[in-house]
Amino acid sequence: MKTAAKKTTAAKSESKSKSANGTVKAKSSAAEGLRELFVDSLKDIYWAEKALTKALPKMAKNATSENLITAINDHLTVTEEQVKRLEQVFSLIGEKASAKKCDAMEGLIKEGEGIMEETEVGAVRDAGIIAASQKIEHYEIATYGTLAAFATTLGEDDAVLLLEKTLAEEKEADTLLTEAAYNTINFNANDEDQDQE
Ligand SMILES: [Fe+2]
Ligand SMILES: [Fe+2]
Repeated sequence: MKTAAKKTTAAKSESKSKSANGTVKAKSSAAEGLRELFVDSLKDIYWAEKALTKALPKMAKNATSENLITAINDHLTVTEEQVKRLEQVFSLIGEKASAKKCDAMEGLIKEGEGIMEETEVGAVRDAGIIAASQKIEHYEIATYGTLAAFATTLGEDDAVLLLEKTLAEEKEADTLLTEAAYNTINFNANDEDQDQE
């Protein structure tokens, strides 16, 4: 009975936020202008970067390849700097730094944890950690690219410089992960699979 009641409530709230033609109805708190959307997106990535400073050490602990452990730990240091850089961006645009939960990053981190649970320690888990990390980097690359474009449109030139700096670091992290994968890990993971056959 309870489940049915829940379903009805869910269906009701869904129909509330969607009009007949499928257009999503905006909340009363919805962003009206690009600037508001920009600030909202900054809060979102601020939450995401902070969440990563907690998730990355766990990934490093679960990795075995020295190459990968170094790449993750280096990126942790970079990520901590990126958190501070975002605080600078907030201050530059005259906003208080505040975090708003990023559903996408929460999902990507959860997926990474799932991969670790589903793999044995060693080359295969390392390959899984790289795959999960690269999804995270690509999300960050997309986000910072968008934020830099928004800041450009809004004439926030100093913010653009900071956002582009972080964007370059995210691309660099992605390249290092690709190298780690090609150099050692993915091939070793493949060997382990063959050993089991
Ligand atoms: Fe980052
Ligand atoms: Fe990153």
